[in-house]
Amino acid sequence: MPGKRHPRVHNLCLLGFGNVNRTLVRLLQDRELELRDKHGIAWRITGVATRRLGWIASRDGLDALLLAGNSAPRWDLLPHVSPPYGNVRDWLHQAHADVLFEATSLNAHTGQPAIDHLRTALDSEVHAITANKGPLVYAYEELTRLAAAKGRRFLFESTVMDGVPIFSLFRDSLPTVHVRGFRGILNSTTNLILTGMEEGLSFEESLKKAQDVGVAETDPSDDIDGWDGAVKVAALVCVVMRMPLKLDQIQREGIRGLSGETVRAARRAGTPYKLVCRAASSGNAIQASVRPEQVPLSDPLAHVTGSSSVVYFETDTFPGLAITEDNPGLEATAYGMLADFIRAVSK
Ligand SMILES: NC(=O)c1ccc[n+]([C@@H]2O[C@H](COP(=O)([O-])OP(=O)(O)OC[C@H]3O[C@@H](n4cnc5c(N)ncnc54)[C@H](OP(=O)(O)O)[C@@H]3O)[C@@H](O)[C@H]2O)c1
Repeated sequence: MPGKRHPRVHNLCLLGFGNVNRTLVRLLQDRELELRDKHGIAWRITGVATRRLGWIASRDGLDALLLAGNSAPRWDLLPHVSPPYGNVRDWLHQAHADVLFEATSLNAHTGQPAIDHLRTALDSEVHAITANKGPLVYAYEELTRLAAAKGRRFLFESTVMDGVPIFSLFRDSLPTVHVRGFRGILNSTTNLILTGMEEGLSFEESLKKAQDVGVAETDPSDDIDGWDGAVKVAALVCVVMRMPLKLDQIQREGIRGLSGETVRAARRAGTPYKLVCRAASSGNAIQASVRPEQVPLSDPLAHVTGSSSVVYFETDTFPGLAITEDNPGLEATAYGMLADFIRAVSK
């Protein structure tokens, strides 16, 4: 009976302590009793690291400090906190880590240094869970093989469409289903900007509004120029279609070239603009693109507005399998990491 299981305490390390990992800490706390009573999982946070913070490890746990909600804790004043470690392997060792949650910034062009960090964790027999898409594009095969060799898990559910189960759906629930292609709206920032432009704003005004509500980043070029979408396309192709795809093989065009008037005219004509991400296989070849496309109102993509996302998979078994997500928050992303944690440590 699940409720009677004796919980095992897992030591957790957080690499990156921004929006995602901070939300994860709150979610872990919210679900603490459920994790313990229903899943037999207990946890404590024994490591936190960022460039500015350094590498902090305490096998006694940093939970009280992290859960206090202080945005600028005086780490240096804490007892039981080891001096900063510049070396991930030493840091994980010092923290007696069981699980690494990697949520550092995306490097769309190399996936580094996150790849090195994840490789070191797996090599140290620590489960590696990431919200960062870069490592999937540049090192999915290698990290997956290493995880298997070390008897650990490399999991990444939060990388595409936040915590929506895409990778686990194909891996766990749809064995032997082959994905032939997909298309969708995978970048919420550009979708929100296009929606604002349809409602009367200029590109610049709509971008500013998306930044004010915290959806667009201060430097929004990865989103606006289609890099984020391209990285997601490459990640989906590599993992669910099991075909290697480099970013420079993806036709990529962002939304900078669209004026407010063009976007509004397209909507009035019944063929609104969407930044469409797509990939299709033909034999061993892949055609993939991220670019603004005018879609007819009869296409469900036309009705996905704001920061919502959608993806349609074409598979050999299900001709059109759709997953949509309405206006997700950070909790959705953090949830993907929590679900990966449960998968990683459950036998
Ligand atoms: N926010 C979302 O809704 C969302 C959704 C899905 C996926 N993601 C992905 O999740 C990851 C984290 O996103 P976020 O919104 O939490 O970002 P964020 O708020 O900017 O936080 C990033 C964190 O990573 C640290 N960091 C960056 N580079 C580092 C390095 N080389 N070594 C150590 N620490 C480093 C930063 O601290 P320092 O600057 O002090 O190093 C900061 O604590 C990104 O890859 C993002 O693409 C985010």
